[in-house]
Amino acid sequence: MRAAQDSGGPARAGTAPFPRTAVFDGPRLVAVGGVDVVELARRHGTPLYVLDHAELAGRMREYRAALGADVDVAYAAKALCVVGVLQVAAAEGLGVDVASEGELVTAHRAGVPMGRVVFHGNNKSVDELAAAGRLGVGRVVVDSFAELDRLERVGRRLGHVFDVLVRVTPGVRAGTHAFVRTGHDDTKFGFTLSAGLAGEAVARAGRCPHVRLRGAHCHVGSQILGPGAFEDAAAVLTGFLADVRDAHGVVLEELNLGGGLGIAYRRGDRAPVVADYGARLVQALRVGASARGLPEPRLAVEPGRSIVGPAGITLYTVGTVKDVPGGRRWVSVDGGMSDNVRPALYGASYEVAAAGPAAGSGGGAGRAAVVGKHCESGDVLAPEARLPDGVAEGTLLAVAATGAYGHVMASNYNRLPRPAMVLVGGGRSDVLVRRETVDDVLAHDVSLPAEVAGAPGPAVD
Ligand SMILES: Cc1ncc(COP(=O)(O)O)c(C=O)c1O
Repeated sequence: MRAAQDSGGPARAGTAPFPRTAVFDGPRLVAVGGVDVVELARRHGTPLYVLDHAELAGRMREYRAALGADVDVAYAAKALCVVGVLQVAAAEGLGVDVASEGELVTAHRAGVPMGRVVFHGNNKSVDELAAAGRLGVGRVVVDSFAELDRLERVGRRLGHVFDVLVRVTPGVRAGTHAFVRTGHDDTKFGFTLSAGLAGEAVARAGRCPHVRLRGAHCHVGSQILGPGAFEDAAAVLTGFLADVRDAHGVVLEELNLGGGLGIAYRRGDRAPVVADYGARLVQALRVGASARGLPEPRLAVEPGRSIVGPAGITLYTVGTVKDVPGGRRWVSVDGGMSDNVRPALYGASYEVAAAGPAAGSGGGAGRAAVVGKHCESGDVLAPEARLPDGVAEGTLLAVAATGAYGHVMASNYNRLPRPAMVLVGGGRSDVLVRRETVDDVLAHDVSLPAEVAGAPGPAVD
């Protein structure tokens, strides 16, 4: 039996992409967070989202250590937004990036200090902005001229001055620099730099008495595996700050470079090391600022996937196993695209391991398609999973690195209740999200009055 090392970076290669506390017996996952996987399934049922506390908190600490006390780290709640996770973020000294009133209220309920909340979105409503003002959100990231006007109106009504960052579309692509690519600039987010809209936004914000402009923001993408795009963004944005100083006489003091760091999804994937990313980002900012004669702006980042993704696994129970002559072995589990839409949506690929003891022997080791139970041929969690012998009805399977963009994108397709989520650590499991029931799924359906339901429709021959 082999246990993971409780440290970051390449030393974890033994269990990655499973969490650092994962314990294996050969190819089989036995425990995570000190809790036996069979016990987890027995107590909480399957499908089950399992978050490893050590991995989650460890990654938050890695960010803070890599970037230092002078850099603000806000966990991007869009990756996984439940009260318990935001409680951990707050306890670890992180801020939280939210993108809707629902995420904002979750952060509030989790006790996240509102001054550490950054509010995003390309179409924030008046009500959402008013909630942000009333709760005293730390930064609102302004995304359009319409929103700037809306913010000023709301601020005037509430007697509140919003602290604001201007979201800039820097024309930086992951891996390549494409400042002048209009294709990339043509996005729903932010003010395009190449067309001069970002500078115009700064000028307009300066004329809004209920807006206090603090700095600029950009986010260049997600699942980025190399540091180049972040360094490019730091260079372009420091250039923007210098242009703002020269054109408007305003020195903006903050730069938020968003999230986007990638993770390992499959065994053997090379994931960036947070310490390396942090050092290169800080250095790029330093170089960019000094080249333009600027004081170093205060840096902020908003990682989501790279904090919560590797902390999560999903446990499923195998139901039907079907061998198609001349084809594959099809292993169906009790969840699927309703709890993890990423394979169907993006063709995302995941590592699958058998979990717990073998259900006898039979079938042999080999490749199999692990599929969900939905009425969709595209409901495939892993088209070519390598599974050991003895995978049969009742066997548990664990899918790695499902912490980010899984639960938050879950649906009730085919009226499947959404799974529970637990946090594991130190040998205990605590429920973060209760399992839905079929009654929960039906809770918002309203039955029609009989006279409406029974009304005759158009005649059918
Ligand atoms: C503005 C902003 N910040 C942060 C993030 C988090 O990105 P990631 O989960 O890739 O770190 C996103 C994701 O889309 C985003 O849009």
